[in-house]
Amino acid sequence: MKKVFIANSPEDTICLGRKIGKLLKAGNVIALVGNLGAGKTVIAKGLCDGLGVKEDYITSPTYTIINQYDGRMPVYHIDLYRLNDSKELYNLGWDEYIYGNGTCIIEWADKAAEMLPEEYLMLNIEVTGKDKREIILQAKGASYENTWY
Ligand SMILES: Nc1ncnc2c1ncn2[C@@H]1O[C@H](COP(=O)(O)OP(=O)(O)OP(=O)(O)O)[C@@H](O)[C@H]1O
Ligand SMILES: [Mg+2]
Repeated sequence: MKKVFIANSPEDTICLGRKIGKLLKAGNVIALVGNLGAGKTVIAKGLCDGLGVKEDYITSPTYTIINQYDGRMPVYHIDLYRLNDSKELYNLGWDEYIYGNGTCIIEWADKAAEMLPEEYLMLNIEVTGKDKREIILQAKGASYENTWY
């Protein structure tokens, strides 16, 4: 399943993230892909809101790699931009996040493609104008097929 959404503003992107966030279940993994400044952190904010995270300071966890928030379930916001070698992830307890009971939201997920689980939801953000984004949603695996999106 593949679906394309058009966002005409950051608010549109947050709104899509929020709707998806509301549907997420424990153990889900969201892979965010897109260039620098595409809007991965913006959509992560929406996802977190839909997951019931109350924190209003959500930024790319650039230096820490992983930020944890409390929502309906634990939310792990991961940013792999500065990752040099995906093997480094083993030292971070990667499997405990990915196969744990929380939701993982992974910016630059394509940098560790081989470390992603068998099934996940991929959101690919393309910049199509100053405030316009094309957001391509792809269910990787049957458990991410959903009639809503
Ligand atoms: N429709 C839109 N959706 C999302 N962001 C938008 C949109 N239009 C403009 N923007 C702007 O684009 C920027 C996206 O920044 P953001 O930090 O989310 O990018 P990112 O993909 O996380 O980048 P990085 O790779 O540096 O982490 C923000 O400044 C936001 O206001
Ligand atoms: Mg970011």
